[in-house]
Amino acid sequence: MKTLKGLLILLAAPLLFLSFEVTESNDWEVPAKYKTMKNPVTANSSSIAEGKALYVKHCKSCHGKEGYGDGPKAEELDGDLGDFSSAAFQKQSDGELYYKTTTGRDDMPGFSKKIPDSEERWSVVNYMRTLKE
Ligand code: HEC
Repeated sequence: MKTLKGLLILLAAPLLFLSFEVTESNDWEVPAKYKTMKNPVTANSSSIAEGKALYVKHCKSCHGKEGYGDGPKAEELDGDLGDFSSAAFQKQSDGELYYKTTTGRDDMPGFSKKIPDSEERWSVVNYMRTLKE
């Protein structure tokens, strides 16, 4: 009996750890100010075209062409790249996507310097909306 209990604990411990890891990586706190921030850039064809060009240049190598998280660099990265085509991803507000794109976290670089124009970062958000499936 005793050994069985011990064995169960041994088996369950890594599972607990795993589930903790998963919630941790998905739990990217976005400040309230950003969550409700209004996108100042209308998602018209020129904004989407601009967002696409920036996405191809800056994001595709990790997030992949369709945003599945399968870019050539993805394998060597820590963290959950998300799936930009999924409902779970798309249910985030524009402000949340803008915040994550701007500040980054760990292996996700922040783009406040590489894409210094905030309207261009909003255009990338507009482009990410088109990846919905
Ligand atoms: C060097 C690889 C890399 C590049 C380049 C990169 N990302 Fe990321 N991205 C990541 C990683 C890794 C994560 C997960 C970070 C985490 O959860 O800590 C992430 C997460 C994200 C998330 C949050 C996903 C979610 O499910 O909420 C968004 C949004 C995002 N990236 C947008 C972008 C945009 C837009 C660009 C280009 C302007 C970009 N990323 C470029 C690696 C990258």
